Order: sequence, then structure tokens, then C-alpha cells
Amino acid sequence: MQIDLTDTIKQSLFSHSLLRRNFKVVLDKIQKIKSKSSIKICFDGSETVFKKDILLEELSQIIEAHTFERAKYYVNRLIKSITEIKRSKINDLNLNRWKEYDDLITDSLWIFNKRDSSGAHNAGYWGNFIPQIPNQLLRRYTKKGDWILDPFAGSGTTLIECKRLGRNAIGIDLSEEAIKLCNSNLDREIKPFNVLIETILADSSEINLKKQLNKYHIKNFQLIIMHPPYWDIIKFTKEKNDLSNAATKEKFLNMFGKVLDNISPHLEKKRYLAVIIGDKYSEGEWIPLGFLTMQEVLKRDYKLKSIIVKNFEETTAKRNQKELWRYRALVGGFYIFKHEYIFLFQKK
Ligand SMILES: C[S@@+](CC[C@H](N)C(=O)[O-])C[C@H]1O[C@@H](n2cnc3c(N)ncnc32)[C@H](O)[C@@H]1O
Repeated sequence: MQIDLTDTIKQSLFSHSLLRRNFKVVLDKIQKIKSKSSIKICFDGSETVFKKDILLEELSQIIEAHTFERAKYYVNRLIKSITEIKRSKINDLNLNRWKEYDDLITDSLWIFNKRDSSGAHNAGYWGNFIPQIPNQLLRRYTKKGDWILDPFAGSGTTLIECKRLGRNAIGIDLSEEAIKLCNSNLDREIKPFNVLIETILADSSEINLKKQLNKYHIKNFQLIIMHPPYWDIIKFTKEKNDLSNAATKEKFLNMFGKVLDNISPHLEKKRYLAVIIGDKYSEGEWIPLGFLTMQEVLKRDYKLKSIIVKNFEETTAKRNQKELWRYRALVGGFYIFKHEYIFLFQKK
């Protein structure tokens, strides 16, 4: 079904009542279209596809505008969304159609009820993050064809999302087991775009990234996603350079800083760095790893853009222990972790 708005719009510009009447006719016509989630709209030779509910919302807004001026403003906005594409420098979103990205989160509180387990995504690697995190970040902060670095690749959640969304990526991990898992997960994911995804077994505080970038004739990365160990909560390997083997909090922060210093020169200016991390308890004390790592980043050439709080979705193990943890919290005078952080920084 195709709706041509050219005449409706041109004949509506004489009076407010005419405009209302003409747009009401279009609205009724669209409302009658059954089981259609998208509708092709034309204006003056340009055409585009709209989500039905968004289009109905736009038309209602035009009809319900209190003044003729306001109504004409909404009509012009509708024309722009049909005829023009407004892109930002760092993503592929068409800002003239921003209402359609209703699944892109813009609040600082992220609540997910369950992890995305589509395609190759799985919860098999203890400590991996939910795919929705890299998905949101990649769509907001990169374009198709950009290069992404994940220096703590783990089971490859970021890399799978990159493959899916048409972004090139390099994932590094010093665990042989993680890199093997990464590769097998990536093999299971279909490749809709022609992108390069490379996994490297290495220490992110020492790897020569310049060499890696030269291999692909690219200058730098457009987004870095860091999901380091939450200090020693999960011991990933026996390697001494594994951040989860840091003997003290200070050493952990120092190792995190070394990784930052090694990767930061290779992030394009004005582009984003995301750090995903949670806090920990030790000997009855809350250790704010989130804010401590945030401070490490802010000692460098970055500006803080957002602090996002994300809920922990409940695992079966946690659900079974819920009562016990509630009792412990009441006795010990603390609160049970229900969140982790996503810190967003922009390179100056
Ligand atoms: C929290 S996990 C990352 C999980 C990943 N986001 C995913 O979804 O699978 C942290 C990873 O960092 C790795 N790691 C720790 N120290 C490292 C270092 N110095 N260089 C590279 N990788 C490191 C660990 O082996 C572990 O796989």
C-alpha cells in the first residue's frame, strides 16, 4: 500500500480547517489498513517507508495542533522525514526519523529482563555481558564499516554483534580458552555484511596495535568497548597479566591503566570509549571498582559523557540463593548488588 501526500499537503496550506480535514482523511485511510506494520509514503517524487504507528502519531499531531502555524511546522517536519536524511557524524541513524528508533535507550537506567540469546549468543562463558550492551553502543556510536576494539573479548559478544551489524572488529583476550570459544561462536553466526573480524590471543597491555592496524591499512578505531574482569570476582586464567589475578586493588587499577595507555592512542579523536564494570565486596566492605576505574580513565585524555546503571538479570543460581543473600544483607548491614555500570567517555 502506497499513500501519496503531495496533493494533500499542497491543498492544505490555505486554511487550518482544510488542513485538518485533509489530514483526517489520510489518517482514516491509514487506520483502515489492516495488519500492515509499515506503509510507503510519497511526497513530490520522494518516497520512504514508515512504521504505521509512528506515521499515525505524526498525522494525529498535525490534526490536533492548536494553531495553523504549529500544524504547518509539523507538516514541514513530516515532509523533511520523507525527503531528507539527516545523519550524525558517528552513527547511521537518520535524525529526521528519530522516533522510529524506539528500541534505542536514551536514559541512564538500563533494565533488561532477559539476555538476547539469538544466533550465536549464549551465556556459556562465565562473566560475559548481555549482547544488548554492545548492540546499543554500536548503534549509537558507530557506522557500518567502522572499526571496533574489544581488548577483553572473552567469548566474543561484542564481535558477534559487530558481525551482525556490519562493523569490523578486533577482539583480544589472553585466555586461550576464551579465544577458542570466540572463534567457534563467530563461526556459528551468519555474516550478512562484508566485514573483517579478528581475534588475537594476547595481553592487551602489551600488544602492538599499530602493527595490527597497519595490516588492514586503517589509522584507528572508532569505538573501544572494555569489559575487564571485576578484579578477582571471577579468576579467568593463571596468567600473571590477567587483571583478575591482581594481588591488590591498587595493582588491579594499575593493570587497567596500562591497558588504557596501550589502546588509547589508537582511538580516533572525539570517538567513544565504554567501560562496563561492576563493584565487589571484600571483608565486609563495598569496593567501588566502577568509580575507581572511571577515575583511571579520567586521569587520561577523556571526558565523561554518561554513567549508565544496568540491572543484573537474575541467574538461576542467584534465584536459588535469594533468601540466603537477603538474610546475610540484613545481618551484615549491606545491600545486595543488583546493578553494574556502563561508563561512557569521549576522547578529547
Ligand atoms: C569480563 S570478561 C569479558 C567478557 C566478554 N565481554 C564477553 O561477553 O564474553 C574479561 C576477559 O578479560 C580477559 N583478560 C584479563 N586480563 C587481560 C589482559 N591483560 N589482556 C587481555 N585480556 C585479558 C579475561 O581472560 C576475560 O576473558
